Amino acid sequence: MIILISNRDIATTWRDTAALTFDPVIQQFITTLDISKKTQETLFRENPASMVQRENKFASLLVKEDPMHHAFCHLQMEWVKQQLSGNMLADIVFSATKALFGSEMLEVDPRFPEFYFGFEEAAWKISNNNAHTICFWTISHIITSPSLLASVRTETSKACSPSGSVDLTILTNHCPQLDAIWHEVLRLYTAVSLIRVAIQKTSINGKIINKGDQVMSPTRQSHLNRELFGSDATELHPERFLKDKKLANQKGYHPLGGGNTYCPGRFLAKQEVYTLVALMLYRFDIDVEDGSLPTVNAAEPSLGAMRPMGNIRVKVSARKL
Ligand code: HEM
Repeated sequence: MIILISNRDIATTWRDTAALTFDPVIQQFITTLDISKKTQETLFRENPASMVQRENKFASLLVKEDPMHHAFCHLQMEWVKQQLSGNMLADIVFSATKALFGSEMLEVDPRFPEFYFGFEEAAWKISNNNAHTICFWTISHIITSPSLLASVRTETSKACSPSGSVDLTILTNHCPQLDAIWHEVLRLYTAVSLIRVAIQKTSINGKIINKGDQVMSPTRQSHLNRELFGSDATELHPERFLKDKKLANQKGYHPLGGGNTYCPGRFLAKQEVYTLVALMLYRFDIDVEDGSLPTVNAAEPSLGAMRPMGNIRVKVSARKL
C-alpha cells in the first residue's frame, strides 16, 4: 500500500484514471453484498456487447451501440454523471428503459420511466450516505449553538415561504453563514481516502507505482492541519470560512475529491443539506434536551462523511408561520 499525502501527489492521483482505478474496491464492496463472482465479471467486462447473443431480440441495444465499449458498471456511472449535470434526465431514462428492457416494458406500462424516477430518488437516499450524515452534523451544530441558530434562521428564512416552497437561488447564493457552516462541517466530518489500484505501471511525480499496487490518499490529516486552518483546527468555527473567502479553494481542503473524479453530486448534496436546514428552522422550534453533541466515530472506516457515535435528543414543535 502506497500512502500519498502531498497535495501535488493527490492531484496527480485524481487525474491518472487510465492507470489508477477504483474498480477493485467496488468489487470488494459488492462481494460483501453476496453478488456472485460471475456477475461481478459481467459487470466489469469491457465491451459487454460481445456477451450479447445476436439472435436475442431482447438484447441490450445500449451496450451494443456504445462506441466506447464501456463495461456495464462504467456505463452506469456515465448515466449517473449525466443525470447529476441536470441535462437529458428524461431522455436518458426513456432510452435506457427501451434499451435494457425492450419496448415491451413501455407497452406493458408506459409509466415505467416515471416509476424509475421514484426508484432512483429512493435508491440515492439509501446508497448515498454522505449527504444525510452531513445533514446530521450541520443541523446538530446549528441547534446546539443559540447564536448560529439565530443567524442561520434569519438568513435562510428569506428563502422559505409558508406554502412550503424554497428559493434555491437565495439559499445557495445569499446565505454566507450557512455556507461557512457547510464548509466547516465538510472539513471536520469527512475522511475521504481516495483509494486506487494500479491496473498498469505508472508514476506519481517520480514515484514508481507498479501494476497491482494500492494507492491511498487520506485527506483528513490535512483538514485538521493547524498550519492550514489555525490552532483551533479540530474545532468547528464557521468564522474561519467567513473571514477568509479563499479558504474553501485552498489546497489541502478537498472533502468532495477533485480532478477527474470530483464528486458530481456536490451541487445536489449542497442543495439537499441547505433545503433541509432551511425548512427545519423555518417550520420548527427545536429544543435540545441534553445539550451535548455526539462524538464522531473516527474508528470506523469511511469513504466520505464520518458517522456519529450516539444520538442527540431534541424536542420538536411546529412554529406559527
Ligand atoms: C456531502 C455529501 C457528499 C460527499 C462528502 C461526497 C464525497 C465524494 C468524494 C470525496 C468523491 C471522490 C471519490 C474518489 O475520487 O475516490 C465522490 C465521488 C462521487 N460522488 Fe460524491 N459526495 C457527496 C454527495 C454525493 C451525492 C449526493 C451523489 C449523487 C447523488 C454523489 C455521487 C458521486 C459519484 C457518482 C462519484 C464518483 C465520481 C467518479 O468516480 O467519477 N455524491 N463523492
